[in-house]
Amino acid sequence: MPNATQIREYLLSNSPWVSPEETVDTIKAGDAQRDVTKVAVCWYAAMDTIRSAHDAGCELLICHEPTFWEHAAPETVWRDKEPGLTKQRFLDETGMVILRAHDSWDQWPRIGIRDSWAAFLGLTERVFASEDHNCHAIFAIPEQPLRVFAQHVADRVRLLGEDGVRVMGDAERLVSRPAVGVGCIGPGQQVVDVGADVLLLCYDGASYWAVRERLYEAGAAVITVEHGTSEMPGLANLCQHLAEQFPAVEFVYFDNHPKPWTVMSST
Ligand SMILES: [Fe+2]
Repeated sequence: MPNATQIREYLLSNSPWVSPEETVDTIKAGDAQRDVTKVAVCWYAAMDTIRSAHDAGCELLICHEPTFWEHAAPETVWRDKEPGLTKQRFLDETGMVILRAHDSWDQWPRIGIRDSWAAFLGLTERVFASEDHNCHAIFAIPEQPLRVFAQHVADRVRLLGEDGVRVMGDAERLVSRPAVGVGCIGPGQQVVDVGADVLLLCYDGASYWAVRERLYEAGAAVITVEHGTSEMPGLANLCQHLAEQFPAVEFVYFDNHPKPWTVMSST
């Protein structure tokens, strides 16, 4: 049976864009040498997700984002204070191993974060991809009003637990070149310069005036979703891919991190 270290080595050895010395893709808790028979994969290691994985008999949880709310390898800031104490205590008591797969899976071709998100939205005809990394891509779609494309995106993300999207731009303007990115590394000026007319961004990576309003002034429409929404299709693919690579292990995908919901005004 493999252990967390071997699964990590598999991911890093196939990710030449990752610096092994600087990556945040490290073991966050537990014994990395422990043999594992059942492994959970998730986007965020929320407390509910960790409990669910443990209840399901998983010895290892592979998450894409931090466990202790800090984008750094050791994640020390919140470990010794609540709510980190509760999480750390549960991990200590259960022995559950946590491995982060972020830098590797972000740019993994075809089934990584960007390409899975695009495929989930039904974007198949790629007309541009950033060359120095696998972060940004532009797709061709039949020309349509922004409100029609935004409705399509909203209908798709409903399946991921998000009940709507936020849109900037004239609802009737015609769009035909949507661009996607990798989580917080959303498509920006570079893709606008080469023809993107509607950008799919996430709130965590696109604050209002620093990013979205600027891109609006640059001429793009902007559709924004939650960070996890844009990355969950990639994590479902990671789960499936690891199951193919490590057939002796059972892999289970969990998506029960808390998801925001919307209250529409009643007047
Ligand atoms: Fe992310």
